Amino acid sequence: MHLTKQEQNMLDGAEGYAVRKSMEILVALGNIYGAKSLIEVGSVQVSGVSYSNLGDAGLEFLDELAKDGKVRVLTTLNPAGMDLENWRQLGISPEFAEKQNLVIKAFEKMGILISCTCTPYLIGNLPLYGEHIAWSESSAVTFANSVIGARTNKEGGPSALAAAFAGKTPCYGLHLDENRVPDVHVQVKSALAKLSDWGALGYAIGKKAENKIPYITGIKAADLDELKSFCASVVTYGAKPLFYVEGITPAAEQHSRPNETVSIEQADIKNAYDCINDQVTDIELVCIGCPHCSINEIQNVAKLVEGKKVAAGTEFWVATSRTAKQLADRRGYTRIIEAAGGKFACDTCMAVAPLKGRFKSLATTSAKGCFYSRQNLMKTKMGSIEECVEAAVTGKWSS
Ligand code: F3S
Repeated sequence: MHLTKQEQNMLDGAEGYAVRKSMEILVALGNIYGAKSLIEVGSVQVSGVSYSNLGDAGLEFLDELAKDGKVRVLTTLNPAGMDLENWRQLGISPEFAEKQNLVIKAFEKMGILISCTCTPYLIGNLPLYGEHIAWSESSAVTFANSVIGARTNKEGGPSALAAAFAGKTPCYGLHLDENRVPDVHVQVKSALAKLSDWGALGYAIGKKAENKIPYITGIKAADLDELKSFCASVVTYGAKPLFYVEGITPAAEQHSRPNETVSIEQADIKNAYDCINDQVTDIELVCIGCPHCSINEIQNVAKLVEGKKVAAGTEFWVATSRTAKQLADRRGYTRIIEAAGGKFACDTCMAVAPLKGRFKSLATTSAKGCFYSRQNLMKTKMGSIEECVEAAVTGKWSS
């Protein structure tokens, strides 16, 4: 990979330890993937924030980098393992909180915005169309590539951090036009009636378009919450973190429909629900907000729980960014949700919080949430916000 004189100096250590380490990571990646050069990035989003995933070895790695590492571009963080303010209320142990706070301190020292959300595009890290970025959270990467038309590979935590310290990333993969060409035409022939249907659609397309870039037709309209739900699901269940929807996503018109065609029928959506849902009736945790809730979703939740009470023995969490929660506070949604017995889980989510073994069952609107909660040994149910609120109030999944 060609390096400029300045990049070579960075690699040789002229700009300190963190930059040298970063350049080593970026050059190694570039060589593996055949990049010809590095390109500048407009922003970075770093995953691997939960102490659950990092452990002490990860914390040590971050502390080492934080000694002289400073980010050069706007850099935001993925969810952490706990709500940074109300961790006690969510049942997090003081030992875990202490370690998680050390992780956050290290990121803060690096100059990273402690945003702790997987929807950075809703809180001010909003790239431009065509802009090169280095993001690592898969749903956010898919949203950035597809809905916004920015360009990023799905970075790992270390390679995203390296891009933040260097301000650059190797130019390969989805940064290049030739790798952004759709390779399978997906005709959607099923109705999409509720938010969770978009998760089911993502499942169905992910399975049929495994490791391909779908060009999707047959969808007449989609709002932001539906698209973010779809982004999380389609990449979790198999497709590349880029898709086009004819008439909806910005770069679709630059491409023609690929020859290989698959269709998604109503039976595929039903099959997705059958595969995502387990046999379970009693629900111990209801969590809405994967990806993190928008203010619109919080408003919907507040309307549905107003005047109701969460069942004894069931927890009801609304996972969102602290920024969205602050808006919810001002609009009175927080008061309504908490009066019903619901809890906000800011800065964190059901997948990265240390929940393994704590709840036996989960109800959620999110196909991705089900995928990761199964790894946390929960039985899962996916449905609409209405069905989830009903499960929170009754403690049972009824449909
Ligand atoms: Fe976000 Fe956690 Fe879901 S990071 S996309 S809420 S699994």
